[in-house]
Amino acid sequence: MKDYSAYFNGPSLKNARKRGRSEVQHLDDAFEVPADMVGIGQGQHYFIQTYGCQANERDSEILAGIFETLGYEAADDVKNADVVLLNTCAIRENAEEKVFGKIGYLKTVKKTNPNLIFGICGCMAQEEVVINKILKKYPQVDLIFGTHNIHRLPQLLKQAMLEKEMVLEVWSKEGDVIENMPSTRAHQYKAWVNIMYGCNKFCTYCIVPYTRGKERSRHMSDILEEVEELKAKGYQEVTLLGQNVNSYGKDLDSDDDFATLLEAVAKTGIPRIRFMTSHPWDFSESMIDVIAKYDNIMPFIHLPVQSGNSEILRLMGRRYTREDYIRLFDMIKKKIPDCAITTDIIVGFPNETEEQFLDTLSLYEYCEYDLAYTFVYSAREGTPAARMKDNVERKVKEERLYRLNEIVNAKAKKANDAYIGRIVEVLVDGESKRNPDVLSGYSQHNKLINFKGRKEDIGKIVKVKITQAKTWTLEGEQID
Ligand code: SAH
Ligand code: SF4
Ligand code: F3S
Repeated sequence: MKDYSAYFNGPSLKNARKRGRSEVQHLDDAFEVPADMVGIGQGQHYFIQTYGCQANERDSEILAGIFETLGYEAADDVKNADVVLLNTCAIRENAEEKVFGKIGYLKTVKKTNPNLIFGICGCMAQEEVVINKILKKYPQVDLIFGTHNIHRLPQLLKQAMLEKEMVLEVWSKEGDVIENMPSTRAHQYKAWVNIMYGCNKFCTYCIVPYTRGKERSRHMSDILEEVEELKAKGYQEVTLLGQNVNSYGKDLDSDDDFATLLEAVAKTGIPRIRFMTSHPWDFSESMIDVIAKYDNIMPFIHLPVQSGNSEILRLMGRRYTREDYIRLFDMIKKKIPDCAITTDIIVGFPNETEEQFLDTLSLYEYCEYDLAYTFVYSAREGTPAARMKDNVERKVKEERLYRLNEIVNAKAKKANDAYIGRIVEVLVDGESKRNPDVLSGYSQHNKLINFKGRKEDIGKIVKVKITQAKTWTLEGEQID
């Protein structure tokens, strides 16, 4: 086998942990198409399968944009594709298992189409254990690249076309900010807008700071330009993306912070603004005031708590206590009474006791969230928590998840019941997945609404009267 050590400076989780003083570069012209790659994709098709969070969804839009710049068209199925990319997620073990399952499946596809170029990118590509496993066991992979070099797709594709050996380019550097990449957006009316990349929080269980590098913000002028462009094209909604949007601007020379950015985006007049995700740590009062002040900032906040017990929160490295969190939660509800709040919770963190778990349940009872994404703790190699001895059995963790989910579902139904009879505004996504006679879309509070309405209003914001509440969705009728 080829010696790959000379080909890439990583991936090394140890190197990825470093947060040096090196300047983040904002590069306007890092993306380029080599002359001999212009039009190389004419008559050929690409297929991208995306796993994980919106950061990956957005990266896949950029990868799709690059493919189309090269002349490729989107394929409707892997079987009809000439290039397949798996944009992977490393957040939990089961996320990785799914990807390995797919890699196995693609081996059979490659047998029928030996010219297929098969690539792996995204967060798993930043993990050395994964790379080593692929090098050893999955020779059907032609190309691996990481999260910091997606702009290099044309050059990497060219190499993969020319070389028989696997092409590997993963940088474990801290990351730059790369502007002016092409993009083919997944939706026509709502758009994701990156405001920052990476994460510096290093919660002890989490792999993201290693796979996504240092926290680095885009310049406010670049973000506003993107929002203005989207608005001019008729987009109704933007979601500002970052692992922790509250940290926006801390690495910039200017005084701009997330509150200033949010206000500036609100002033563009784009009809709807959302943002994801907020860490409770630096959620400022001025942010809450801006959200309360502007009608086009949606009254919906995803505010992951992870645990309701202060000792577990300390071990998780979350930087707040149960009391700090409740104080913030109460302040949001006081200043924005109608605000929907959702959360993320991990059960079964190493050595979590029954009492500590009960604190999570009691916090949930107090906050009565609109919804929660709940997970059993999954050890990620290289993170501090993975080195902790754990005395909680898998069975106990799963039982805790089950008990938590019962409360989550009951509160979700209760929160939804409160909407019966109310009129909400829905950005119409299209026909409902289950029934083409029914339309669906999201309300201001990010509730999924299925309703009887006019198909010509797809892509518009319409008024819907809620007639029925279920645990996950609301039903209603269009009234304007
Ligand atoms: N940046 C976001 C979270 C991104 S990951 C934030 O801090 O809010 C999304 C969620 O996955 C986290 O909120 C956490 O609940 C969960 N998660 C992260 N690492 C995990 C792990 N090792 N095991 C189980 N769940 C995990
Ligand atoms: Fe992970 Fe914590 Fe960063 Fe969120 S804030 S991405 S949970 S390290
Ligand atoms: Fe997964 Fe990477 Fe997002 S690990 S959750 S795709 S940042």
